[in-house]
Amino acid sequence: PAPGWSIPADVVVVGSGVAGLTAALRCEAAGLDTVVVTKARLDDGSTRWAQGGIAAALGEGDTPEQHLDDTLVAGAGLCDEEAVRILVTEGPDAVRRLIDTGARFDEAAGGGLELTREGGHHRRRIAHAGGDATGAEISRALVAAVRAAGRDAREASAGKGGGGRRAGIRTIENALVLDLLTDADGRTAGVTLHVMGEGRHDGVGAVHAPAVVLATGGMGQVFSATTNPAVSTGDGVALALRAGAEVSDLEFVQFHPTVLFLGPDAEGQQPLVSEAVRGEGAHLVDADGVRFMQGQHELAELAPRDIVAKGIMRRMREQGAEHMYLDARHFGAAMWEHRFPTILAACRAHGIDPVTEPVPVAPAAHYASGGVRTDSHGRTTVPGLYACGEVACTGVHGANRLASNSLLEGLVYAERIAADIAASLTGNGLRARVPEPVEHPGRPAHPLLAPEARLTIQRIMTRGAGVLRSADSLVRAADRLEQLHADALDALAENGKTAEPGVDTWEATNLLCVARVLVAAARLREETRGCHWREDRPDRDDTAWRRHIVVSLNPDRT
Ligand code: SIN
Repeated sequence: PAPGWSIPADVVVVGSGVAGLTAALRCEAAGLDTVVVTKARLDDGSTRWAQGGIAAALGEGDTPEQHLDDTLVAGAGLCDEEAVRILVTEGPDAVRRLIDTGARFDEAAGGGLELTREGGHHRRRIAHAGGDATGAEISRALVAAVRAAGRDAREASAGKGGGGRRAGIRTIENALVLDLLTDADGRTAGVTLHVMGEGRHDGVGAVHAPAVVLATGGMGQVFSATTNPAVSTGDGVALALRAGAEVSDLEFVQFHPTVLFLGPDAEGQQPLVSEAVRGEGAHLVDADGVRFMQGQHELAELAPRDIVAKGIMRRMREQGAEHMYLDARHFGAAMWEHRFPTILAACRAHGIDPVTEPVPVAPAAHYASGGVRTDSHGRTTVPGLYACGEVACTGVHGANRLASNSLLEGLVYAERIAADIAASLTGNGLRARVPEPVEHPGRPAHPLLAPEARLTIQRIMTRGAGVLRSADSLVRAADRLEQLHADALDALAENGKTAEPGVDTWEATNLLCVARVLVAAARLREETRGCHWREDRPDRDDTAWRRHIVVSLNPDRT
């Protein structure tokens, strides 16, 4: 549908996790009129669920070079070394700026930050907050800073207070992003939104801006069991694909090794049991109580997480078990309460007491290492469209993200994006330009899926493209996904419309869009590397596959 309202801005940031809010704050600080749109509330999204922490070479004796080495090893030959170098060298100062913004990290008894370890790190370099509630604290601090920098959206759109564009942050919540708007030259001109119940900004509208920052997070909801919240439905990747932007590395979905096991049919968001629990000395044990990661990797339980996830899956198969156990009874009650209060509460809420019994755990979908392809300034292949955080593929994660590099990537690359936008808008006089979106009447309508398709997609993906994949399982998944797409197209052709536009239908549609590309990439990559595990191709093939799978769609076709 055509937008019923529009507001102008210098930059629109889509998403309100660590990446989106950092980008917004830095844009505002550079004097830009900034609008943040977010699908639910400002503090919803994956950031607030992050437990372990944020990795940076902040400890005595640690260096960015050592952080670089660990990141490259975890990435299994596919990291972009320059992108990682930027991450690890700019990371420590970015964390200090986050602290200046108001985030309070846990401090060591002797002063300085208390740092922990996680999988793949050879050192203690993970800063954390509230024990195991790091993301919640970062989210709290950033939301408070954004609110403090806020302008009332109604005031601006009603033309009060000068009405024009001036520095400040306006926020629109409950706003699902639909599509990218472009001008006659194919440059970014803003986004269309579907907003629910936000006063004058209700229904379908648009923010017109020459710069759009996608910070929409991940796509964990494409699988049945995931650590991701319900809002992680791949909206940014789907938007970018519809806009013709390049997307890369979607086959590399990271499955977190230790997610609380709530039964074989558990669906939706599942409680995470942070790697930091292993970082502080918890052991993985099998159904007989035997440790099984020793001998598989020099770091045992603290190997990179793809290796630990595989170790768990192998032992589950050998024993015909549905899960393994994480044993940290030796921490004792005081340490559990002080260091891991969130996890302790989640376990107890499900009737498991980690102080007295081992915790049942199994891998579940956790993080999209791939995403919308960007350069080192967060620019995508569509001029004026940027991406940062989990939605982006900057090249820092390669085939498997190193633990706790995600919050850091969101921070560092959001700052780089803000600097790039500020330089291009103020440096080239573009600020004066009010972008003029053009319509593309020839473009086919999107067939929207009914909300029930979400469950179907999740089950198809879990069976066919989960932790363990094979050519056969992927073909079956691809066939079923293509059938869903074909059915939606048929319904559109027959009735002229499909499901009623709304958040549920758009989410299901976006999930199908990213699932189809993910499966296509996983079929193409005929090897096992990082978190892409092909049973039929068990070896890493550096001759054929030390390269990326990059996909872009033609916006003029469905
Ligand atoms: C965790 O706390 O285990 C998650 C850390 C991460 O995903 O980087």
